[in-house]
Amino acid sequence: MTDKPASPTVLLNLTVRPEPYPPHIRQRLELDAKDIIARYPHPRSALLPLLHLVQAEDGYVTGTGIDFCAEQLGLTGAEVTAVATFYSMYRRTPTGDYHVGVCTNTLCAVLGGDAIYEALQQHLGIGHGQTTPDGAVTLEHIECNAACDYAPVMMVNWEFFDNQTPESAIEITDALRAGHQVRPSRGAPLCTFRETARILAGFPDERPGVLEGVPGEPTLAGLRVADEAASAPETGIPAADSGDGEGMR
Ligand code: FES
Repeated sequence: MTDKPASPTVLLNLTVRPEPYPPHIRQRLELDAKDIIARYPHPRSALLPLLHLVQAEDGYVTGTGIDFCAEQLGLTGAEVTAVATFYSMYRRTPTGDYHVGVCTNTLCAVLGGDAIYEALQQHLGIGHGQTTPDGAVTLEHIECNAACDYAPVMMVNWEFFDNQTPESAIEITDALRAGHQVRPSRGAPLCTFRETARILAGFPDERPGVLEGVPGEPTLAGLRVADEAASAPETGIPAADSGDGEGMR
């Protein structure tokens, strides 16, 4: 009989059950949750705004927030977690007052997005998903924000800053860290990440000028081309027809 080799230690890494919200916070959140859930025919349809609500409370989606959403909507923690981890707007780690997202998707990247991200990393001394020690700025590189006509684009708390350069991006983060009011390229002055999350949960956005603003020239250019094409007289000849009778090959 031979000695059996010693079994390796198995670490289960079981997580600790999250603490529920203290009663006074829970009471307030339940009222907000009731308001949100009443907007939908089925409670589970309210999950996305409810996740924004708990993100507004904690600055990110915590285990406590996930349990709260699950209880309010009759879902399991696993179901809520699956949704919260699918969408990148829900953060799983503490977030600064200003979430700065630099688009490093192809078009923005080649037009300067990579350089902007690199400059901010150096200037702020933080990397992807990290927050400055003063708790003001969390930096991330993000995917296309559907504002490619203003590339390279940076977003702060999901508001657009168009046609950025490394210098202008640094200037914006410096102003934010100094507590100055900063206006995006379109829309109202920035509010904090938590205030933004509450607006995204569907509560009123009372910032001055929030409904002001018009589409910019690059956005309208495509519309103009489409309008011109639609109003051009029909020739009866397909545009791609080469004239050799075979059309486009
Ligand atoms: S590639 Fe940056 S907004 Fe589309």
